[in-house]
Amino acid sequence: MAGARARTVYVCSACGAESPKWAGRCPECGAWNTLGETTVQAAAPPRGGARAGYAGAAGRGGPVRLSEVHGGEAERLATGIDELDRVLGGGLVPGSVVLLGGDPGVGKSTLLLQATAAVADRVGTHYVTGEESPEQVALRAARLGLAGAPLALLAETAVERIVAEAERARPAVMVVDSVQTLWTEALQSAPGSVAQVRESAAHLTRFAKASGTTVLLVGHVTKEGTLAGPRVLEHMVDTVLYFEGEPGGRLRMVRAVKNRYGAVNELGVFAMTDRGLRAVGNPSAIFLSRHGDAVPGSVVMAALEGTRPLLVEVQALVDRSPLANPRRLAQGLDGARLAMLLAVLHRHGGVALLDQDVYVNVVGGVRVAETAADLPVVLAALSSFRGRPLPRELVVFGEVGLAGEVRPVPGGEQRLREAARQGFRHAIVPRGNAPKGGIEGLALHVVTRLQEALEAAAALA
Ligand code: TYD
Ligand code: MG
Repeated sequence: MAGARARTVYVCSACGAESPKWAGRCPECGAWNTLGETTVQAAAPPRGGARAGYAGAAGRGGPVRLSEVHGGEAERLATGIDELDRVLGGGLVPGSVVLLGGDPGVGKSTLLLQATAAVADRVGTHYVTGEESPEQVALRAARLGLAGAPLALLAETAVERIVAEAERARPAVMVVDSVQTLWTEALQSAPGSVAQVRESAAHLTRFAKASGTTVLLVGHVTKEGTLAGPRVLEHMVDTVLYFEGEPGGRLRMVRAVKNRYGAVNELGVFAMTDRGLRAVGNPSAIFLSRHGDAVPGSVVMAALEGTRPLLVEVQALVDRSPLANPRRLAQGLDGARLAMLLAVLHRHGGVALLDQDVYVNVVGGVRVAETAADLPVVLAALSSFRGRPLPRELVVFGEVGLAGEVRPVPGGEQRLREAARQGFRHAIVPRGNAPKGGIEGLALHVVTRLQEALEAAAALA
């Protein structure tokens, strides 16, 4: 531990706040029984060998002129798995730390084994397994047809020994599966505790920055949907990817929620097969369910995930509620926004759903975070309420404001072109999103107010 002075602090596992004293309740977020012991090192200067692109850490003496710092794009190592490279922002950045989070069984180990095997014949790689034995990893590799890949397997959970091995062999890429199994000699607390996870990850991060090795950490997601030792790890690493999928389904999505080296909200799509994960190169239409006939409550939305248009089906079920406080449930969408949209529909559309339960869902386990889902949600809810289906070849997107206005969203033309390419014939879109020349094959119903959108939908239904 490079002789740095250590002091003991207590870290909240819910919010990541530090306090000098232990307490039963976190003084920052108010959660109970979340403080755990950890030590922090006084900042030590990074060891030599740091390269341009990430050499900006502390400990380099006085200030330097910005123009004299070589901030050029570090050369990336493409894994060759396109769906993963895109989410990373073009490949692995030397010296960066990537955290891959996801539910147990979603395929984290499979993805990283495939990724390391794909680069192993070009650069040195370590696959550190703390959860499974080398035999289990070898069995999986054989199943994936990767038994011959020249990667070094290390069954180890002590972070000091993992780093010692890596300092000796200097791999370009190191996977640590999983961060929850790690422990460090510097602390007394049990492996898996927040303090251990945090300090172990910090140690690996210091190693990555100093050596130029790319470190990929696997992190399990807890029942509450957060990474164990959550915020603390997200602050520490350069990139946070989440691996998610529909329970029981074959489709898997990797999404960047933080990326110091690329855009967030890029989406990588895979299918889990009996021989591992296969990239789904053109996923724009795979999330559309194919009912025979048009059904009430279903609207196809043209979403934009990162740089890619994606057509997804928004479904709503509106039904008379037996409850005094009717239910509002949003799956794959923001629940608070649903409540807001229903209020706008009441005030500006004259449709009251106060005594109705409202459920909305995005088909295929996709999560849509953009406001472009507003108009599809409103039209789906109304379609279900009235029991009147919208035509199957209709696509919708647009943001709905509190004043009942329909606002444009980014990438309108791109969304519309993809919809036309997939055979859609009608689109209800915000005025600001309608391209001047129109879109061939697509009838555009341009709206600026919610009321106009409701009328356009009623005319089509
Ligand atoms: P795994 O990568 O072990 O998940 P994680 O590391 O996120 O816990 O993947 C486990 C699941 O994937 C398991 O249910 C089996 C399935 N699987 C396949 O369907 N095909 C395959 O080729 C492999 C290796 C796993
Ligand atoms: Mg695993």
